[in-house]
Amino acid sequence: MALPDGFLYELKERSDITDVVSGYVNLKRRGRNMVGLCPFHSEKTPSFNLYPENGSFYCFGCGAGGDVITFIMKIENLDYIEAVKFLAQRAGIEVPENSYDDGMGKLRMRIFEANREAARFYNKKLYEPEGKEGLDYLYRRELPDNIIRRFGLGYSPKSRYALCDHLRSLGFKDSEIVAANLAFRSQDGRRIVDRFSDRVMFPIIDLRGNVIGFGGRILTDQKPKYLNTSDTPAFKKSANLFSLNNAKNTGERTLILCEGYIDVIALSKAGFKNAVATLGTALTAEQAILMKRYADEVIICYDADEAGQKATARAISLLRNAGLVIRVLSIPEGKDPDEFIRNKGEKGAAAFKNVLESSGNDVEYRLTKLKNKFDLERPDQKAGYMLEAMRVIASLDSSVEQDIYVSRLSAELSIDKASINADLQKLKRRREGEARKQEYKKLSTELSGRDDKINTEKSKHTRAAKAEEMLIAFIVYNNDMEKAASQRISPEDFVTKFNSRLYSYIINKIQEGVSPSTTLSRDFTADEVSKFYAILHGYNSQTATREAMNEYIDVILEEKRKLTPEKISEMTPEEIMASLKKRKNKY
Ligand code: UTP
Ligand code: MN
Repeated sequence: MALPDGFLYELKERSDITDVVSGYVNLKRRGRNMVGLCPFHSEKTPSFNLYPENGSFYCFGCGAGGDVITFIMKIENLDYIEAVKFLAQRAGIEVPENSYDDGMGKLRMRIFEANREAARFYNKKLYEPEGKEGLDYLYRRELPDNIIRRFGLGYSPKSRYALCDHLRSLGFKDSEIVAANLAFRSQDGRRIVDRFSDRVMFPIIDLRGNVIGFGGRILTDQKPKYLNTSDTPAFKKSANLFSLNNAKNTGERTLILCEGYIDVIALSKAGFKNAVATLGTALTAEQAILMKRYADEVIICYDADEAGQKATARAISLLRNAGLVIRVLSIPEGKDPDEFIRNKGEKGAAAFKNVLESSGNDVEYRLTKLKNKFDLERPDQKAGYMLEAMRVIASLDSSVEQDIYVSRLSAELSIDKASINADLQKLKRRREGEARKQEYKKLSTELSGRDDKINTEKSKHTRAAKAEEMLIAFIVYNNDMEKAASQRISPEDFVTKFNSRLYSYIINKIQEGVSPSTTLSRDFTADEVSKFYAILHGYNSQTATREAMNEYIDVILEEKRKLTPEKISEMTPEEIMASLKKRKNKY
């Protein structure tokens, strides 16, 4: 079952892509189109394009493309039906009931419900006799009732069946509880067992207020200290942040990035509600891009230990790539923000505010780190420091910024600014050369089709696939040529399966007299839709002529006739020889 074409047509009419995308991307008009910084990858110059005329978007940087539904799927992390519902609600229209198969969407809803009930259950347990140890633990860590309530903290009982029994009594199926990762199946497969037991529980809440998972801290010093929900159909660790649901509402556009749940909560208690943390993994590019949606500046506030400092270096590069301004806070006296604030007692909040205000930017942080590695009294070490420092400076985008640090370095090392600049220019030229090489490599990989994850046959049949793509784009731009093309070639004549399916879809739609793009996102996956737009935007429609079309068809038919390994296995040796001879004569 599928959503009716007519409904999708109306939904799109009422969901103006410019309006919708403007809610997420700062768009500027360029001719008939709009451009902006791509929300799906890190970039500093806009390659995200919006085409109001045909209701599509395409990013020349990362290849993401699609219609308004694809956009919502990608940016809100929703599946197709959820994205349709999201837009329908926005437009104030009803989604026809029973017109779609929504198995995955239903399971996700059940997981959200089970998680919500679990959070309620854990929280209630905290205040029952069996939860006393948990509550005592939180009090010991100076987390009072109002904070427990604010974050919905809880306790998972010692019994390994407590939550399962409770959720079953509410009508949840074992399969749903396991899918939510709230339980796992026992070794013999006969029953399900609570995943969390005897732990203090931290619910993880997404931006729409759904409970998507949990972190659970053990009360003793056993390992693992924290257990986190694994990825489920409703939870992707790498794409969410703890407490971003709270932090996004402070109206500040600054986020404090910490290592753990407790740090975030301690900061919130001290009045810094804009703190977030990753969920038991290192920061990802996806999380950095997500932060950019709610902030312009991020203050990294990791633990003072070596692991924390390593993580800081990694975070700096990811956050910079996402276009965020960065400050790095080093925590004096104590390992992490929670410890620091607690050590200061009453004055915790004020002391932290001071540290926040005196925190330097990421470049200063990196230069100071470097400097500590060298003994600047020794000439060889001084030169070593200068070289490393210049590498940091050369990696900066802004020449104003570069100039500032060159001046500082010159003063610090008593070296003439002009000579530092001369070396810097050399370094920059080398970097540019490297960048060009990378660019070239990327381009040649693209052309060879080696990286094509959608059309996996492209690398084996580059010439055919290229011609197929051009024919597809040509027909999309020139619907009136469909008949002429169909007289010469049919989808079965295509060499690669994906292109054949896409072409077949497009000509059927044209024959029905509707635009293929209305329903494409219903019948193809989001990545396949992106591939379709990549094909369109890789084609120069200005040069399109009937002769060009005939050439594409010639190439496809010729490639189809060519010897393929599959065919060889069906051929007699004589046939193979004859075929080889024929090819030789031709070239
Ligand atoms: P920390 O060990 O610094 O935790 O780990 P913390 O917040 O200071 O915790 P307390 O104060 O000892 O209670 C930082 C983060 O790393 C993840 C968790 O997300 C934690 O909040 N982590 C740590 C795990 O996922 N598993 C572990 O076993 C340990
Ligand atoms: Mn810590």
